[in-house]
Amino acid sequence: MATVAEPIKRPRIKQTQCFIGGKWQDAVSGKRFATIDPATEELLAEVAEGDAADIDLAAKAARKAFESGPWSRMDARDRGRVLYRLADLIEEELNDLAALESLDNGKPVRDARAADLPLVIDCLRYYAGYADKIHGSTIPVRGNYFTYTRKEPVGVVGQIIPWNFPMLMTAWKWGPALAAGCTVVMKPAEQTPLTCLRMAALAQEAGVPDGVINVVPGFGPTAGGAIVKHPGIDKVAFTGEHLTAQIIMREAAQSLKRLTFELGGKSPNVILADSDIEKAVQGTNFGLFFNQGQCCCAGSRVFVEERVHDEVVDRLTSLASSRRLGDPLSPDTEQGPQVDQAQFNKIMSYIQKGKTEGAKCLTGGDRNGDRGYFIKPTIFADVNDNMSIAKDEIFGPVMSILKFKDWEDLIQRANNTFYGLAAAVWTRDISKAHDFARRVRAGTIWVNCYDVFDAAAPFGGFKMSGQGRELGEDGLRPYTETKTVTIALG
Ligand code: NAI
Ligand code: MG
Repeated sequence: MATVAEPIKRPRIKQTQCFIGGKWQDAVSGKRFATIDPATEELLAEVAEGDAADIDLAAKAARKAFESGPWSRMDARDRGRVLYRLADLIEEELNDLAALESLDNGKPVRDARAADLPLVIDCLRYYAGYADKIHGSTIPVRGNYFTYTRKEPVGVVGQIIPWNFPMLMTAWKWGPALAAGCTVVMKPAEQTPLTCLRMAALAQEAGVPDGVINVVPGFGPTAGGAIVKHPGIDKVAFTGEHLTAQIIMREAAQSLKRLTFELGGKSPNVILADSDIEKAVQGTNFGLFFNQGQCCCAGSRVFVEERVHDEVVDRLTSLASSRRLGDPLSPDTEQGPQVDQAQFNKIMSYIQKGKTEGAKCLTGGDRNGDRGYFIKPTIFADVNDNMSIAKDEIFGPVMSILKFKDWEDLIQRANNTFYGLAAAVWTRDISKAHDFARRVRAGTIWVNCYDVFDAAAPFGGFKMSGQGRELGEDGLRPYTETKTVTIALG
């Protein structure tokens, strides 16, 4: 029998206020809101509830740091060193940060340690190395002129992030912004403010000057909305739901802010009969159930070729039903609770729809236990393209399996969604793999793998899955403005 490891120690919560201009302070309104432990539904901490007044202070601090503070005079190479130091401090605190992330979000601590934290550190180091390599070019123009370009920071950037990867989304946003020389007003998700606040404290310790990073916890329409409307903020980078992105786009029109969006998906994951079935099944299980299914790129439409359909369905079902659910702080746990009551309700309503619309529920289909937002890993087979569970982003541990026979038909079905974030294919046929990669309209294509992320590899969506890219060189571009300088010669 497997031994059950001891749950790891609960980390101490050190930061719960707004971080503005290098100082920790209560919200101007004095309000606070609760962040809870989704595994127990108990209060973890009360956190300052920022709104427009706090965003205004943060935007002013960020403007000052951008225009006249030490940041504006710091060498690019020194900006890079600050980012390297932040990565080092996070690495030193890796276990505590992983536990804090696990506590606030509900994700298994082993995932936080093995995935979130290493990716955070890698992202910061990747962009640290970029800081002194952002430069323009000299351009031959007609006539007796000398023309060159400068890549300047876009200015004060507002960053609004979700709750599914709180630290990682913070790193994806801060890395390129700081490398480019921007200053930041960040609003973490109301469900998971704690690790972002801790990272702000570490950033200060790493030497990020006052006002360069400001963090204002609070709710979407108030604190988030104030970022979008603030005339002193030049750009907004947002990760979350496409409906929220539509609101942001409308509200940002007033000041024509630069916008980048990383939104949701309904990503097709295709298993061909000629694939290594064992690998395909393992990868498909991971590609959907990782992080409780709360991934924008979750492989939530699993297409299986008819010839291997029944075998694959059996194997996926047995894997899903053997997942270990439990205390996220226990190192053995593979699946924790969903992040909050609202997400729990949304997922349960989709499970109900799957059942009433006629899909076959092979495992799960219920909540797990009676405390915390746990949902059993759920698999639906006999799903057709028009069912809600095949069309909508569920953002939970619910897999929809669809059968296919014809390749052309498959490509068309894979593209039959307004999303376009990711797609995967499992096959030994190199021509089919390339055909899939070329014809499926999505920002990321995985062949014989799933959820492979790297700080150097651009990530983002086609269609309604987003606008612009994060990570890699592409991820830096939205944080710079190009200035063209032309000098008459002679
Ligand atoms: P959301 O898009 O409402 O929230 C994401 C962030 O935006 C949070 O920080 C929130 O406070 C902020 N926000 C909300 N309304 C805002 C507004 N009017 N102006 C400015 N900021 C605002 O997503 P939510 O409600 O947490 O989740 C709803 C669904 O969105 C999920 O069920 C899932 O389908 C999808 N989602 C996708 C994510 C992704 O990684 N692409 C992440 C989180 C959710
Ligand atoms: Mg929302």
